[in-house]
Amino acid sequence: MKVLVYGSGGRDHCLADTYGDSQHVEKVYLTPGNPGVTYTPKGKRGLIEVIRMATFEEVAAFCLENSVDLVDVGSENPLEEGLIDLLNEKGIRTIGPRQEFVRLESDRAFTDDLLQGIGVPKPEYQVFEDPDRARDYVRNIGYQVVVKANGLAAGKGAVVCDDVEDAVTAIENIMVKKVFGDSGDRVVIEERKYGTEISFFVYLDGEHVMPLRMFAQDYKTAFDPEDRETIERFGGNLNTGGTGCYCPHKLVTPWLVNRIIKEIVNPTVNTIYNDLGWQYRGVLYFGLNLDPYDNLDVFELNVRHGDPEWEVIARKLSTDLFEIGMAVCDGTLDQVKQVWNEQHYVDVIAMEGRSKASRGWNKGYPGRYGKGHRIVGLDDLERGVAVYFAGVDDVSEKGLVTYGGRVLHVIAGDPTLEGAREKAYRNIEKIAFIDHNNDDNNCMRFRKTIGL
Ligand code: GLY
Repeated sequence: MKVLVYGSGGRDHCLADTYGDSQHVEKVYLTPGNPGVTYTPKGKRGLIEVIRMATFEEVAAFCLENSVDLVDVGSENPLEEGLIDLLNEKGIRTIGPRQEFVRLESDRAFTDDLLQGIGVPKPEYQVFEDPDRARDYVRNIGYQVVVKANGLAAGKGAVVCDDVEDAVTAIENIMVKKVFGDSGDRVVIEERKYGTEISFFVYLDGEHVMPLRMFAQDYKTAFDPEDRETIERFGGNLNTGGTGCYCPHKLVTPWLVNRIIKEIVNPTVNTIYNDLGWQYRGVLYFGLNLDPYDNLDVFELNVRHGDPEWEVIARKLSTDLFEIGMAVCDGTLDQVKQVWNEQHYVDVIAMEGRSKASRGWNKGYPGRYGKGHRIVGLDDLERGVAVYFAGVDDVSEKGLVTYGGRVLHVIAGDPTLEGAREKAYRNIEKIAFIDHNNDDNNCMRFRKTIGL
């Protein structure tokens, strides 16, 4: 069988890699792809091939010419731009929701109203299109809030506020300065919750639901909370939507999984299938919170796997991903058996840190960061340690170089969480980003507390 994964980030590389592990799959195409993949064992032996394609029409034509059996679309933007609809019109089998259904992620106000209407627990919220009214609201509400861009923002659109001043600044940035573009035309202002975040994924086949009985925890802020000096220098600990992850989440128990399915997943899926009448086929990702009083709340729905949550969940999943994919297309998810291995996994993301610019210094991600730093040490990693690439490029005179703020994921597994942590950190330390403007010092940075 041949699979095409559409995407270019760490999650998409991981999807391609996981399909490559399937007993049914002889070839995985990754487009627009990521040059890092050609440096991995599956890339070197051609099991995963990166193909550059400029348009969705080209993707469809390629799938038909090469008899691609299944296309998995990893991220929300191509889904919102209608890639699934186009491929389905040509008779190509896909995983991912149709354009219309992406609204569950791209219109928070719509989803919040939907969930509230059916009694799914979620924080108090209000929607604003006028920045003045939004400011008045946060000045009067009294409790802490989260200000969220209503539309897509690459997982970065939620600003967690400590006080009124933070909230007013967030409103200014999102609604007036438009840091997330048109996604900030409306904001959802939500009560801030405390507790533990849970990323919970389910697959839908248009008729059935298969909730994964396993979940992960994302680390969304750029810095370790203990790193107060850096946070101060950056003017706050920004939500960058994923700097590391671990699985199983410390809260995974059969009873909590059952509770999430009963209180949250089932009513939501029922309303998608029956009230909206949507034949949703693909992944639905519930961003959840469990507070100290044992209340569950839904923070958000996403129409794709979480990044980096997928990278650790995929390592732990022993069920053949191609079989899940075919069941999503065929409406047979009720027949899929979930099998999970016994390992713990930790994903630490290597980011661009402080580096020398031609004039002055780059602050490093999530501020201004440098590019083109040679990535070394990948050949020294221990066996079984996975690397998934995100912001990288391949240039003829240097080889693999950095090209984004979040550059690559190092994922290690072990029978204990502590062992997985040690292994992930031991191996990420072997990698360096060479700052050629600064005596070849290492300008890689990563969070130290993933999995703690
Ligand atoms: N891990 C956050 C996201 O994928 O949006």
